Amino acid sequence: MKKIGLALVLLIATATWASNDGMPATASAASANPERGRKLLVNRQETGCVLCHAIPGMKEGGDMGPNLQGLSQRLSAEQIRYRIADPRLLNPQTFMPAYFSTQGLHNVAKPLMGKTILTEQGLEDIVAYLLNATKGP
Ligand code: HEC
Repeated sequence: MKKIGLALVLLIATATWASNDGMPATASAASANPERGRKLLVNRQETGCVLCHAIPGMKEGGDMGPNLQGLSQRLSAEQIRYRIADPRLLNPQTFMPAYFSTQGLHNVAKPLMGKTILTEQGLEDIVAYLLNATKGP
């Protein structure tokens, strides 16, 4: 019952921000930690971000996705959060995974069903790192 309640809250929360270009800060934003975010960004097994993105402060980086240098100069925290949570909302054809959505996924392994790739805290930790690290040009 608790799980259903949580899923419902997540669904309603998603429905309200999904129609705008921006996702408001979650409750975990207050405890966001950029250092934890940095570790998540370089972790290929948990996120794989560096497979596709060059990110300031990181040695390795791919070029299948845009370079994230200067990101916080062109996008707000809300817009950055939105693009990580579900990039399909802006580009249904994107090959970037939706890190904070459980919608429209098929053949998900049983233990992972109904779970988002990133936790709410993980999402906020990453946003905190990117906001800090991409202030420069
Ligand atoms: C498989 C490749 C891939 C992975 C993995 C990936 N991305 Fe992306 N990302 C992209 C692509 C491609 C885009 C461009 C958006 C589009 O496809 O329309 C993008 C766009 C973005 C943007 C918007 C950049 C801009 O300038 O508008 C951000 C922010 C971002 N990704 C962050 C992340 C983070 C953080 C992770 C890991 C949690 C991640 N990405 C993982 C491919 C990837």
